[in-house]
Amino acid sequence: MVKTFDLVIFGGTGDLSRKKLLPALIAGVVAGRVSPDSRIYLTSRSAADETVAGWLTKVFAETAPACHVSDDNFATFASMVRFVQLNLGEGGDDWKALAADINKQDDRPLVHFLAVPPSLFTSVCDQLGANGLNGERARVVLEKPLGHDYDSAEAINADVARHFAEGQTFRIDHYLGKEAVQNLLALRFSNILFERLWSNRTIDHIQITAAENIGVEGRAGFYEGTGAIRDMVQNHLLQLLCLVAMEPPARLDADSIRDEKLKVLKSLEPLEGDAIDRNVVRAQYGEGAVNGKAVPGYAADLGLKDKSQTETFIALRTHIQNWRWAGVPFYLRTGKRLPARFAEIVIQFKDVPHSPNAAWGASINPNRFIIRLQPEDHLALRVMMKNHDSSSDELKEVELRLDDVGAKGPMRMGPYLRLILDAARGDQSLFVHRAEVAHAWRWVDRIIAHWQAKPATLKTYSAGTWGPYEAHDLMSRDGRTWYHDG
Ligand code: BG6
Repeated sequence: MVKTFDLVIFGGTGDLSRKKLLPALIAGVVAGRVSPDSRIYLTSRSAADETVAGWLTKVFAETAPACHVSDDNFATFASMVRFVQLNLGEGGDDWKALAADINKQDDRPLVHFLAVPPSLFTSVCDQLGANGLNGERARVVLEKPLGHDYDSAEAINADVARHFAEGQTFRIDHYLGKEAVQNLLALRFSNILFERLWSNRTIDHIQITAAENIGVEGRAGFYEGTGAIRDMVQNHLLQLLCLVAMEPPARLDADSIRDEKLKVLKSLEPLEGDAIDRNVVRAQYGEGAVNGKAVPGYAADLGLKDKSQTETFIALRTHIQNWRWAGVPFYLRTGKRLPARFAEIVIQFKDVPHSPNAAWGASINPNRFIIRLQPEDHLALRVMMKNHDSSSDELKEVELRLDDVGAKGPMRMGPYLRLILDAARGDQSLFVHRAEVAHAWRWVDRIIAHWQAKPATLKTYSAGTWGPYEAHDLMSRDGRTWYHDG
C-alpha cells in the first residue's frame, strides 16, 4: 500500500476540500495509512491571511472529522499542508515555483486533485503539462460532474488527454469508494448463492435511492443550472446501477470491471419523447419542514429572484436491454430536502409461485435484499419465517442482517481517502472510464433536452416529504411501492 505521496488540491480551500478531502486525509494520518512525509498543497486564488494550523483548526471545527485527532496528530498534519497562491488560468512564476518545490521530491506518486469547476479542468491541465507536472508518476483526479453534457465532457476529456494518458486519468465518483459498494462486488462475485438468483428469473425489480435531508448548502452557484440529474443521476446513481447489473468480470481489475459497467450503460433503454414523461419525474422543493424545522423553498433558499427550472428531485424508471435483465424495472430516486439522509439499493425478488398453505397466502411478502450504503452500512436479507409469537401458522418477515460489514474505528476508510490512496498507487478499478462518462451523458442529455422543450414537467414537493405525488404514482402504476416512503 502506497503511503507516501504528494497531493495538490486545486480548489484547496474550497467546499469539497474542507468538507471531504482534508477530513479524509487527517483520518488517513491518524490511521497510519498516509505517511507524515507526504505533502499536501492547497491552491487558491488569494493569498492566505492566516497560518495553515489556524485555518485547519477552523476547518475541522466545522467539519468534525470522524476520528479523534490528538494534538500531536493535528500538528503532524498541519506540517504536511502548505498553501499555494495560484492563478489557475495563467502560467507564470507561481506555477514555476510550485513545480520546482514539488519536483524536489520526485521519487513518489504525485496526485493532482481537481476540486474546481469542470470549466477550469482544461486550463489546469494545460499548466500542469507546461510546467512538467504530468510525468509518469503524476495522476490527475477529476471531480464530477465532468462537464455539463456529452459535448463538454468529450471536449474536457480530449483536453486532459493532451497531457495525461488514460492510465493517469482518474475520474472520481466517491460513491464507488463507499464500503458497502465494494462489498456488493465481493458479495456478488465470491458467493454462488447470489449470482444464481441475480436475474429476471427471480428478481422482480430494483430500487436505488440516494436521499438527502439537506438543501443546497451554500453551493447555489454550482447547483442552479446543474440540478439533480447532472449532480447525482449521471454519475452516482448510474454507477450504482452498473455495479448491480453488470456481468461477472473475468478479473477484478480496472479494465475488466470498467468494460462490464460500460456494457450496462450501452444496454440502458434509451428514454425519449413521451417515454420520458411516463418514466421520469422531476421536481423542486417548496417550503416545508425537515425534522421539525421550517425551511424555505428552493428559490428562496438560494435567494433567486426569478423562477428556477432546476430540479432538486428525480425519480425514474428504466430497463436494461439484455437477457439477464429484460423485463426488470430499475427505479432510481434522489432528492434534496427529503425527510431523511440515506442511500440504499433494494433488490426485490418475485413472489413465491405457489403458497402451500392457504392461511399464508395473503401474508407472504416478497424477499428483499437490501444494500445500505449510508448513514450506517449494512446488508440485510428480508425473509419470511414462522411467527413464534403466534400459535397459528402465521408468518412474519424477519431480517438477516450483517451490520458494519467493513472495518471499524480509525481503520475504517471513508470513500475519499480510499480513492485518493487508490489514485496514489495507480489503481483505477474504482474510477470511471472516459467511455462510461460519455455513455452516461448521452443517456441523460436526451432527458434534459426533453425537459428544456417542456418546462411544465417540473413539479413541486414540500420540503420534508418524499417528493411529489408523481414519484409515488410511478411505482403504484406498476403495483409497487418505494421501500422507504414515509
Ligand atoms: C455530491 C453531490 O457528489 O454528492 C452533492 O454533488 C451531494 O450534491 C453529495 O450532496 C452526496 O454525497 P454523500 O456521500 O453525502 O451521499
